[in-house]
Amino acid sequence: MSSSFSDPSGIDNQSATECFSDVFKARLSRRQVLKGVSALPLLGLGAGCAAPGMRNDSGSVSFTPISASTEDRVRVPSGYSATPLYSWGDPVGSAAGMPAFRADAGNTAAEQALQAGMHHDGMHYFPLPYGSDSSSRGLLAMNHEYTDDGLLHADGMSTWSAEKVRKAQAAHGVSVIEVEKRGSNWAVVRPSNYARRVTASTPIRISGPAAGHAAMRTAADPAGIEVLGTFNNCANGYTPWGTYLTCEENFNGYFVNAGKIPPEQQRYGVSARGAGYRWHEFDARFDAAAHPNEPNRFGWVVEIDPFDPKSVPVKRTALGRVKHEGAAMTLTADDRVVLYMGDDQQFEYIYKFVSRDAYNRKDRAANRDLLDHGTLYVARFNADGAGEWLELTHGKNGLNADRGFASQADVLIKTRQAGDVVGATKMDRPEWTAVNPKDRSVYCTLTNNSQRGAKDQPGVDAANPRANNTFGHIIRWREAGDSAAATTFRWDIFVMAGDPLLTDANKHGNIRGDVFGSPDGLWFDPAGRLWIQTDVSTSVLNRGDYAAVGNNQMLCADIASGRISRFLTGPKGCEITGIAETPDGTTMFINIQHPGETASERNDPATPMAVSSWPDGAAGGRPRAATVVIRKDDGGVIGT
Ligand code: FEO
Ligand code: CA
Ligand code: CA
Repeated sequence: MSSSFSDPSGIDNQSATECFSDVFKARLSRRQVLKGVSALPLLGLGAGCAAPGMRNDSGSVSFTPISASTEDRVRVPSGYSATPLYSWGDPVGSAAGMPAFRADAGNTAAEQALQAGMHHDGMHYFPLPYGSDSSSRGLLAMNHEYTDDGLLHADGMSTWSAEKVRKAQAAHGVSVIEVEKRGSNWAVVRPSNYARRVTASTPIRISGPAAGHAAMRTAADPAGIEVLGTFNNCANGYTPWGTYLTCEENFNGYFVNAGKIPPEQQRYGVSARGAGYRWHEFDARFDAAAHPNEPNRFGWVVEIDPFDPKSVPVKRTALGRVKHEGAAMTLTADDRVVLYMGDDQQFEYIYKFVSRDAYNRKDRAANRDLLDHGTLYVARFNADGAGEWLELTHGKNGLNADRGFASQADVLIKTRQAGDVVGATKMDRPEWTAVNPKDRSVYCTLTNNSQRGAKDQPGVDAANPRANNTFGHIIRWREAGDSAAATTFRWDIFVMAGDPLLTDANKHGNIRGDVFGSPDGLWFDPAGRLWIQTDVSTSVLNRGDYAAVGNNQMLCADIASGRISRFLTGPKGCEITGIAETPDGTTMFINIQHPGETASERNDPATPMAVSSWPDGAAGGRPRAATVVIRKDDGGVIGT
């Protein structure tokens, strides 16, 4: 999602800012990071684990990089193909019905609930059958983050109705589709017993320490244990027991509160106007004045079992409540599950969850509630390159009743406020995290922050060293002892994005390779290539600082050399997000989100193709988000 929808109400974090008194240290640190990847040897590649045996993959980055582009199509290097697979409105493949997409946006809400949602985002490939390593048949679980109601309805938002709200709600959430390789191409299997949509209306169980808490109870759910739906599902994660994690990001934008907004809603950006979705006009629970606890039931990570289409999704409250971007998973040496999570807003924090119990490799069902028990931490990046994971546990670090935290449920429902209390570092919009399979170091995209250093806003610090950071950077850290459960780490900055041709030296960055900005999607493939996807806001795309950067894109970083090469450019007005691969690495799936988005982020329904007609062309009626299959013509591993 581009930044204006991401931050509909500006900056939510008004907590006191830590100031680095040791300016010299900070300056030294900034010089170090600007020298680039070789400046701090602490994150050099160690003797890592090898790539899985199923891949014939050295980890080389050997495609020919492509140029930046403003063309209205997906471009990939010579020797590769990129083919749309599953577009907004395509039938998910449920036996309950497979309504065809109507290019005039004439599908009903009921039909939309059986079709691909809008604005595809995070995604994961699960081989079929469960437990296999099939690279020819699997499930794709993917998020549908938000809607452009100018495209979703034939006459946009000029008239408004309960039916339109229901259709918008049905276009949010998650798809699970069955996909299979047919020859050298892929197809969606229809019908499929696995095909499923989870929407903003699907019953979802609330579990973990916040379930049933007074602040989670509503008139419709007096027990505080079941909520209707998930929405603004941005990035994702997955578990080693084959479940999908979908992360609720800018949930606040769906609520309005025309009254006096309480501090706990202010801290999460609930406002008098919301982001203009207008659900509250026909669905009273989105009136946050009348239903003040309903916003507390969003901002969570939701676990979905894609292998059981009848399973009830579960909101795992132990993972905290923020504007969740993704949840990158790794394991400790004793098989506890660790999830790294960004809270994507200006001056928000980076989190880590460590499960109490080990994952059971032999008994899938034994892991059912594993994510309900564990410890949540928030990151502090010190100026000297050290870092600390500050524990967010009731009764520790000042998180007690005096500060408004009477229980662990309070800490979790008010995760941001807990981060304020313990002194976490305010970051430049933490987006995706990714764990390097070779050395277990963790990378996180800090997409941008034009407010860094602005009047009355926090200034630069070592980890966020640029004022008016319009291009963003990628930070990384290595846990003490390479143990994912460690409470200290060492960090440095992997790359500062930018354009060396700009006159402002603060915007040059230090990229070795191809120019990009606003990194968002981030994923390590099993051989250790780092894939970087960008989300430059459509309000600045191809203008101003971004005049020479082209459409949003995907790049590949060779960690050893630090070289970053452009692999893919998207159509006009899109964001590139979501990435998954088959285990053999020969098929990659990525998502093109909001092709054709206008600078206002809502299309004029009279001219739906004003910006883009991708993927269907002029005859298609309107642009559509879509999953794209990337293959190498010789059937080789993507990236080689
Ligand atoms: Fe939905 Fe932070 O991007
Ligand atoms: Ca983004
Ligand atoms: Ca994102």
